[in-house]
Amino acid sequence: MKIRVGIDAMAVAVPRRYIDIEDLARARGVEPAKYTQGLGAREMAVAEPGEDTVSLAAEAARRALAAAQLPNSQLGLLVVGTETGVDHSKPVASYVHGLLDLPRSMRVYDTQHACYGGTAGLMTALEWIASGASGGKSALVVCADIARYGIATAGEPTQGAGAVAMVIGRNPAMLEVDIGVSGTSSTHVHDFWRPLGMREAQVDGHYSVQCYLDALAGAYRAWKTRALERDVIHGGGIASEQLARICYHVPFCKMAKKAHLHVRKCDLEDAQRPWDAAAEEKHGAASFAEQVEPSLVACARVGNVYTGSLYLSLAGLLESQSYALAGRRIGLFSYGSGCTSEFFSGVVGPRAHERVAAAPIAEVLAGRERITVPEYERIMGLTAPLDALPRPGGFRFTGVTEHRRQYSRA
Ligand code: HMG
Repeated sequence: MKIRVGIDAMAVAVPRRYIDIEDLARARGVEPAKYTQGLGAREMAVAEPGEDTVSLAAEAARRALAAAQLPNSQLGLLVVGTETGVDHSKPVASYVHGLLDLPRSMRVYDTQHACYGGTAGLMTALEWIASGASGGKSALVVCADIARYGIATAGEPTQGAGAVAMVIGRNPAMLEVDIGVSGTSSTHVHDFWRPLGMREAQVDGHYSVQCYLDALAGAYRAWKTRALERDVIHGGGIASEQLARICYHVPFCKMAKKAHLHVRKCDLEDAQRPWDAAAEEKHGAASFAEQVEPSLVACARVGNVYTGSLYLSLAGLLESQSYALAGRRIGLFSYGSGCTSEFFSGVVGPRAHERVAAAPIAEVLAGRERITVPEYERIMGLTAPLDALPRPGGFRFTGVTEHRRQYSRA
């Protein structure tokens, strides 16, 4: 009998402060339309040192477990995907495990490959459950990161921070993943990296966009081959149009548009359709508006969350369209610089709206405070936590005692 596995609950945590992207543009002497239209950004999350990767991950995980109404004793695996961990050895997952008082009888570890780290954790969890190895237990997968490029760099308006936690289990309420129907593509490239000891990422920005698109073409075509073999899609026409929506990794929102047009280009080439630039400009724009744009609302208000960006896009999509999408198949593309990537798919569950209502993103975003660019610049330079209190129930990094990181809960 087929085991149905996927995402049963999701929740998001973001820093309590953000800047308006137009304020940042004006402060940098840049035409605001470059950031709003050119990159597709609206707001950018600003994490102070008290809101580190651990506290964001723990907060998202706490909310996801509450939404799933799952007893902790049902968990057998905790994986945190992150590229902005807090220790060379002790994983973020270990802190989250302790802060949430999760059972001893669990596997607990981090996964890292730039923005793909969370997907690595998700795939492990899905396949662990689908194989039967989990013994009926569920998994908690958390994607948490703080994206930093530095003040006045080209990457600055694409910074962000946050965490997305997912409870993975059988008979999932939110998204049943097509297990075994995925395509991967990896190449050794230096598009984006962060040498040991550096807080800010190094990036070859325009090259990274090309690396993303090349990986997408490889992963999407590999997914398509598997999907056709398994009758997940049928042949002929523009294959991607058989997906009700596609969520992409979103380093900045315009990247998702570039990605979607590239997928359509692959489809047109594969179908050996003659290239009609004017027609495709019209069809591509309409297809982007329907298939992708609804997933970008939350991403535009948070910025890049590295490992969490694809899942913020998914959570945002389900928050706005879970009723309309129930029973329909969507595509997902995960990209991690360096690089590795995966295109996969799944069917939205009929009870997704219940889970959305239990952990709404709108509530999380509404609880934030807008700060000025000078305040953001001051926070970027801080190494010690601010005194501000976290949200009720929230976690917070308070400092280091004898080389041990300390956390409090409000
Ligand atoms: P830039 O060079 O400053 O910007 O940096 P630009 O000159 O390329 O302009 C950007 C867009 O704005 C262009 O649109 C301009 O035309 C437009 P496009 O041609 O791309 O469609 N523009 C305007 N539009 C309206 N009104 C105006 C105006 N002026 C210009 N007045 C860059 C852009 C993305 C390179 C930079 O922000 C950057 O380096 N970002 C970080 C790297 C990144 O996000 N890469 C994405 C792919 S790699 C990835 O996704 C992995 C990652 O998440 C990390 C991981 O895996 O861990 C980053």
